[in-house]
Amino acid sequence: MSKLKKQLPKAKITHTPVLLGEVLDLLKPAAVGNKPASQSVMVDGTCGEGGHAEAFLSRYANLILLCVDADKEQIESARRRLKKYGSRVELFTMWFSDFFSDYHAYNRKLPDRILLDLGISRFHYEKSGRGFSFQRDEYLDMRISKELKQTAYDIVNKAVEQELVNILREYGEERFAYAIARAICRERKSKPVRTSVQLAQIVSNAVPRQSSKRRIHPATKTFQALRIAVNGELNELEKGLAAGFTLLKKGGRFAVISFHSLEDRIVKRFFKSKNKSCTCPPEWPICQCRGEKELILLTKKPITPGDTEVRANPAARSAKLRVVEKCA
Ligand SMILES: C[S@@+](CC[C@H](N)C(=O)[O-])C[C@H]1O[C@@H](n2cnc3c(N)ncnc32)[C@H](O)[C@@H]1O
Repeated sequence: MSKLKKQLPKAKITHTPVLLGEVLDLLKPAAVGNKPASQSVMVDGTCGEGGHAEAFLSRYANLILLCVDADKEQIESARRRLKKYGSRVELFTMWFSDFFSDYHAYNRKLPDRILLDLGISRFHYEKSGRGFSFQRDEYLDMRISKELKQTAYDIVNKAVEQELVNILREYGEERFAYAIARAICRERKSKPVRTSVQLAQIVSNAVPRQSSKRRIHPATKTFQALRIAVNGELNELEKGLAAGFTLLKKGGRFAVISFHSLEDRIVKRFFKSKNKSCTCPPEWPICQCRGEKELILLTKKPITPGDTEVRANPAARSAKLRVVEKCA
């Protein structure tokens, strides 16, 4: 058995890290004078298979990396890939907001670099078997962490119609939320909606024909909405930004790559709120709060991938990178 195990091929890396060159430059470990600092601690809060992580470890020898992912399978892939970096890497299977909130319990130096590369990886769409994609007919699970109790199947088959409408509107910005929710409720009366292809078919039939000229598949927004709802992604992002920023060392940098407007809006607003000096009501003639900016925006506009990157990796097309530096 152990011999057989040894002969099994290692799980293949599927994900290509997005905006890698830009992230490597903007999160380069801090320098002291013209020498690199003796040691820099970076948290990769969404390490996935460790694509960004490996690039950082191989380029910057003075870097210690704390790798976090809520998905145990991803952490195991990263563990195999990053093994060669020995004690420079530690891996944690947990949600990044919990990791940041509990950080002091780990007794580590404060991080001066934090990276969040949001969403899910190519592994999830292509290999996880959890129904994230309608390109494959899979059970509607959609949990990033198996510890979550509620699956997409539970929502699709048990939520009341109005709840489905709200999820599709809020998390998918879906114009046809009502028609789709009604079609799901009609369908599940005869048999449960079990799989991704079954759901995609219901959505396609519910959406008016002329809208099928949309650039994206009619079910894309429904799948996005369900995934966000199952994993509580927006709430997790809000909590993670606040806890991560509090933790970040003064002068440290925080980078976030987002993939849709709901995420980017949260990131943009959070950074903007910390970039204000005065928080007094606008009608007050003189500042009373004597507030000071907490960060500098290193990217006034988000950085997006160029044509070459999008051609090589179409999944990068909607990526937006925002980076800030915490004021010293
Ligand atoms: C886009 S992938 C990261 C890819 C990685 N940067 C790379 O280059 O290989 C996002 C990863 O974040 C994980 N994830 C998403 N939300 C998370 C959260 N709130 N806490 C921890 N991990 C999360 C997913 O499981 C996924 O593996």
